Amino acid sequence: MNQMPNNDAFRPPASATSIKGESITLRAVSKRFGPVVGVDGVDLGVRAGEFLSLLGPSGSGKTTLLMMLAGFETPTSGSIALGDRDLTYVPPNKRGIGMVFQRYALFPHMSVAQNVAFPLKMRGVPRAEIPARVERALSLVRLQDYGGRMPAQLSGGQQQRVAVARALVFEPPVLLMDEPLGALDKKLREELQIEIKKLHESLGVTIIYVTHDQEEALTMSDRIAVMDKGRIRQLGSPTELYHEPNSSFVADFIGKMNFVEGVVHSIDDGHADIVISGETIAFPTSRIVAGATLKAGQRVRIAARPESMGVTAIATGAISGQIETSVFLGSHRTLIVRMDDGTQLQVQVPSSHRDVAEPERGRAFLALDASAVCLFPREG
Ligand SMILES: Nc1ncnc2c1ncn2[C@@H]1O[C@H](COP(=O)(O)OP(=O)(O)O)[C@@H](O)[C@H]1O
Ligand SMILES: [Mg+2]
Repeated sequence: MNQMPNNDAFRPPASATSIKGESITLRAVSKRFGPVVGVDGVDLGVRAGEFLSLLGPSGSGKTTLLMMLAGFETPTSGSIALGDRDLTYVPPNKRGIGMVFQRYALFPHMSVAQNVAFPLKMRGVPRAEIPARVERALSLVRLQDYGGRMPAQLSGGQQQRVAVARALVFEPPVLLMDEPLGALDKKLREELQIEIKKLHESLGVTIIYVTHDQEEALTMSDRIAVMDKGRIRQLGSPTELYHEPNSSFVADFIGKMNFVEGVVHSIDDGHADIVISGETIAFPTSRIVAGATLKAGQRVRIAARPESMGVTAIATGAISGQIETSVFLGSHRTLIVRMDDGTQLQVQVPSSHRDVAEPERGRAFLALDASAVCLFPREG
């Protein structure tokens, strides 16, 4: 009952290798390319066996950070350690770290088995051991019958699975993956996300996974480091980042977030009274972002998830606006509401709330779950 289809197909065979994951420590790591700062003073501790994602917009330094971990780039300053072994200036092939790139990067003139065998040959593994290890790595990604094929005879998803097998064949304690599913279509991407996650769970290898897709990071990671302009803006579990973002940047980058402008009326007794388009709404001061304080007269941004807003019949203490779109999606209805100042809000009304009339057009009053929002002070 309630079983996922093909669940067993994702599970590596019982004979699968188990890999001992290692921790990684970055201290004040920076990388400059002439005047361009690629990575800017990153401190990061990745736990042994952890699945950690580097998430950020294009150009935020994710690939540069990964290349320094792999040894293809040397930091301008700072240090990198694997367990307690310093790696900063160790060449890539001496690090024992596996890497999967966005583009399949298989050798086109070699068979699948030869591709997977390549890292073993490079490391001088005795010839007699190679076929069994290649077989084992291919069975991890369920391609044990494909050793004789050429890369061009495989689909994109299969090629990427070969790349994973090739990266794991020498049983590295750490696997680096740079947007490995970026070139695949959505359905295949979701299948491979599950497959990689299961591999991680069954092997125990440390995985550092680069993506610009926040949904992918939320689904797969133990922790996520959100990057911007070469720096880590926040490091935390998916739920921490979702519920307790430390900045508007992170709030906006993870999940769907509404931003409403307000002005602080008064602060007392653990509550901040904030005026939003003429209505005064009380918020617990615990919802003020860590490290900030608010005072009367100050402008604030209130960040609220679509599921933290609901439709109410009572105008007092509510945000009002005009319904622009109303879409029924089975489990919930999504409303797009435009406030009088032009702010557009997305609201999710659960379908179980049948007592609340299902609004489709006209004016709507929206109640905020004051205990679930985040309050960010605004400068100026
Ligand atoms: N080899 C390079 N030479 C010059 N600038 C580079 C080089 N590699 C990366 N950069 C710059 O460093 C910054 C971070 O790039 P990158 O790490 O590729 O970001 P991401 O992977 O997050 O998209 C960007 O501004 C990029 O242009
Ligand atoms: Mg990149």
